[in-house]
Amino acid sequence: MLPFHQVVKDDFAEINQLIIDQLHSNVGLVENIGQYLVEAGGKRLRPLLVLLVSNALSPNNKQRLELAAIIEFIHTATLLHDDVVDISEMRRGRLTANAKWGNAPSVLVGDFLYSRAFQMMVAIGNMDIMAILSDTTNVISEGEVQQLVNAKDPTVKEDNYLSVIHKKTAALFEAACETAAVLSGANNEQRQALKQYGYHVGMAFQLVDDALDYEGDAETLGKNVGDDLAEGKPTLPLIYAMENSRAEQSQLIAKAIENGDVDQLDAIVTIVKDSGALDYTASQARQQVSSAIAALDCLEDSKYRQAMADLAHFAIERAY
Ligand code: IPE
Ligand code: IPE
Ligand code: MG
Ligand code: MG
Ligand code: MG
Repeated sequence: MLPFHQVVKDDFAEINQLIIDQLHSNVGLVENIGQYLVEAGGKRLRPLLVLLVSNALSPNNKQRLELAAIIEFIHTATLLHDDVVDISEMRRGRLTANAKWGNAPSVLVGDFLYSRAFQMMVAIGNMDIMAILSDTTNVISEGEVQQLVNAKDPTVKEDNYLSVIHKKTAALFEAACETAAVLSGANNEQRQALKQYGYHVGMAFQLVDDALDYEGDAETLGKNVGDDLAEGKPTLPLIYAMENSRAEQSQLIAKAIENGDVDQLDAIVTIVKDSGALDYTASQARQQVSSAIAALDCLEDSKYRQAMADLAHFAIERAY
C-alpha cells in the first residue's frame, strides 16, 4: 500500500473481500485467471479515488465499496484486453494472462469482468452512475481503437495523441471521481470539479506511463519497457523527439514506428533523451497535476482531500 491508501485502509480490507466474492464463477478458469490478477495486486489507484471522494463528501454511504470494486473490475478487464492487443508478456511483476493461458481466455475473462461490473452497477441502482460508466467503457474502447489506427504512423500529432490518452486512460479516472461524487450527493459544481481532478490525474498518469516505457526499469515497473515501440506507438516522447532532432535522427524514429522495430531501441532512447522529449513529457504531466490540485478547492480540508493531492503527486513521481 502507498502512504495515501492508509486513510481508507479499512475500506480496502472490505473491498478485497468483495472483489474475491464477485469473481465467483462455476467455471474454474474464470476464477483462476481472475484470482491470478487480483492476487498480483496492482496499485488500486482508481478504487482509491472512489473511496477518497466518497469519504470526503459523505462517509456514511456504504455503496462506495461496491462502486470501488466495479471501477477496479472495469480497469482489470481493460488490462486483460490491453495485454492481448499489445502482445505484452509481463504485468504486475508476473506473466500476463495471455502469456500464461493464451489470448482467447484473456479476452473472454475480460468480458466476464466487464459484464460482472455491469451486474454490480445494476445492484447499486443509480441511473446517473450507469450512464457515466456505460459512456466511459464505450470511450475507453474507442480510444484503444483510435490508438490502433495510429499505430505505425509517424505523422500522428500531439493533439491526436492527447485525445487517445484522454479516452483510453483519463476517462476512467474521471469516471471514478464523478461517480463517487454522484453517489455522495455532490452538487453539480463539485461533481464537475471532481471530474476535472480525475481527468488531470489520469492525463498525468498516462503521460508518465509513456515516458516510463523509455526510461523505466522493467523490474520496478512490473512490466516490460520498449513495448510501445514494438507496437509502433507514436507516443509523446517520440512525437516530440521527431520534431526536435536532426533530420536523420527523426527519420530513424519514423522508420522504427513504421516497422514496429525495436532493434534500434538503444539509439532511439538516446535520441529521445537528448532531444529533451522526456523532460517535455514530464513538464506536461506536471502541468496536469497543478490543474488537478487546483480542482480540489471544491472540497473542504480533510485527510481525504490531502490524500487526493498526494495521489496526484504520485502520478508524476512514480517509478512503477
Ligand atoms: C496500467 O494502469 C494501465 C495504464 C493506464 C497505464 P496501472 O499502472 O494503474 O495498473 P495497476 O492496476 O497498478 O497494475
Ligand atoms: C493502457 O495503456 C490503457 C488501457 C489499459 C486501456 P498502455 O498499453 O500504455 O498500458 P500498459 O503500459 O500496458 O500498462
Ligand atoms: Mg499495454
Ligand atoms: Mg495499450
Ligand atoms: Mg504503457
